[in-house]
Amino acid sequence: MNLISAPMAAITHSAFRRLLACFKEPDEYFSEMIHAPSAISGGGFEKWYFRANPSPEKLIWQITSPEEEAAASCVPILLQYGGLGIDLNMGCCAPQIVNSGAGFAWMKKPILQTASLVRNIKKAVLMYDEQKSGPQTEPIRFSVKLRLGETEDYERLLSFCKMLVCEGVDLITLHPRTQKQKYSRPCKHEYTARLSSDLPIPVYGNGDINSLEVLEKNAAQYPCAGWMIGRAAVQKPWIFYELAKEYLKNGTAAEIEEKIEIDLLKTAELFLNFLQEDQPQEFYLTRAQRFFAFFCDNFSFAHHIKSRILNCKNLDDMLLNLKAYFEEVPEDRLIMV
Ligand SMILES: Cc1cc2nc3c(=O)[nH]c(=O)nc-3n(C[C@H](O)[C@H](O)[C@H](O)COP(=O)(O)O)c2cc1C
Repeated sequence: MNLISAPMAAITHSAFRRLLACFKEPDEYFSEMIHAPSAISGGGFEKWYFRANPSPEKLIWQITSPEEEAAASCVPILLQYGGLGIDLNMGCCAPQIVNSGAGFAWMKKPILQTASLVRNIKKAVLMYDEQKSGPQTEPIRFSVKLRLGETEDYERLLSFCKMLVCEGVDLITLHPRTQKQKYSRPCKHEYTARLSSDLPIPVYGNGDINSLEVLEKNAAQYPCAGWMIGRAAVQKPWIFYELAKEYLKNGTAAEIEEKIEIDLLKTAELFLNFLQEDQPQEFYLTRAQRFFAFFCDNFSFAHHIKSRILNCKNLDDMLLNLKAYFEEVPEDRLIMV
């Protein structure tokens, strides 16, 4: 069973992936979603999205696109930097994305239109594969990440996914919530297990996995090929280390025994350093704010420190505020996992 780091816009860039790797890498990393029309037009910031580190061989590029031509053209542009696969975003329900015709909009468009998009991306993936050199290289995987649909209609979801399989999709990730369902209610992994047993391709489950206990419960009850973790990995970038005991493919006996001490201040500092190495200056503040919105949930006075961090004007200021927090609340700084 694979454990996967979920795609999250403005969070799962290479700086964040490097932070995960300091503790324990997941089996796969999904990039933040990459807007295909912008990627092909080569705007000034695009090169930052194309960073494949720390482990290009574990990276899946996620694309989002309102139209098929841009989506297909984006495939070789991304794969030239490495990566084990291409993922198409059909799950994002943010109104600005859906209204533009991207993300979840592809689950609502006429089925033939969506089939044509998928077929063309698959064609681009196969073409890239053919031109790649080296006999031992694995074929590039093409996956789709989606939600349940507009309503909880399993038969409709299954027939949509069968279309995806017919058009050459190799793997599906299901975040089992409908378009309108927010995070406050638990997602329904019974659909993940049903889809996994009804489809001939691997299915990953995604949603609400935030500890070993929750993972074990879901894995036992809802079998599928892997579990993707989003928000919990931002709050606890060491989560793949915690889960390594039972589930990471490459876990060793030594790791199973070992407890490690996590220093939250040093972890924050490390992230800010990676951010400055791997992102353009224009992104520093927004990316740091996104990260700390989750990371600060480790702190006893999360609300208080979050509002301080959100008001900071630069990264140095953020770090000063974090240091001041740990001076006030030193018992929050170290945790054992
Ligand atoms: C801040 C944020 C950004 C996200 N960006 C993306 C994205 O770019 N692509 C995508 O497919 N899903 C995106 N998602 C959804 C997550 O990948 C995931 O499906 C969702 O958070 C549920 O998983 P979790 O409970 O493990 O967080 C995002 C979620 C959050 C909270």
